[in-house]
Amino acid sequence: MANYRIAPSILSADFARLGEEVQNVLKAGADFIHFDVMDNHYVPNLTVGPLVCKALRPHANKDGAPAVIDVHLMVSPVDRIVGDFAEAGADIISFHPEATEHVDRTLTLIRDHGCKAGLVFNPATPLNYLDYVMDRLDLILIMSVNPGFGGQSFIPEALRKLSEARSRIDAYVARTGRTIHLEVDGGVKADNIASIARAGADTFVAGSAVFGAPDADRGYRGALGKLRAALAEVGGR
Ligand code: DX5
Ligand code: ZN
Repeated sequence: MANYRIAPSILSADFARLGEEVQNVLKAGADFIHFDVMDNHYVPNLTVGPLVCKALRPHANKDGAPAVIDVHLMVSPVDRIVGDFAEAGADIISFHPEATEHVDRTLTLIRDHGCKAGLVFNPATPLNYLDYVMDRLDLILIMSVNPGFGGQSFIPEALRKLSEARSRIDAYVARTGRTIHLEVDGGVKADNIASIARAGADTFVAGSAVFGAPDADRGYRGALGKLRAALAEVGGR
């Protein structure tokens, strides 16, 4: 249980008060801040970039220490912007394999900038991209919606892909002793998070489920509490 991490996506936060939103959601019990970067080219939406990441960095603290900023790049090309995000204080940088010419090179570039590297799989993208790059990876992110918007419904087929990714990770850990995290992104709610955890995820992005929570229901703390209560039923990873 303690090993599950919840990463609220600020895509569903109030963009006019982002610093405060980040502080509040971390105070309410979030583990990471999930930072969705969209370029109106790789995906049909436009969000925020390194300047906003840098501005939020001093607001992203948990228990007196810097909290993880988990940057999800939905941009093409990828390489040019990696250094900017590293400098802006990103801890994890993930990208979509279709968005770069050279997946192995981009993964190396992210680590060379001192960040953890993640590879993101769209609903129709096969896991074969993992075949020869496991050593370069710190995180695998399975999209359970098509990227571009918050508030979409979970695509059930993602459960099968999570199980497959979990098998690959477990085999890798058994062989090398090094862990790779398995994250899920899109449509995660209190009523499906347990089955998602059972399929093998250990890190859960939740946008609308957290930032859309009504104040009457104890707001962010209430929403995170519901997600954690559902995870508690699954037991630890
Ligand atoms: C979708 C983004 C997600 C999104 C999740 O392209 O990558 O992170 O904000 O939002 P919900 O949890 O509302 O599906
Ligand atoms: Zn995301």
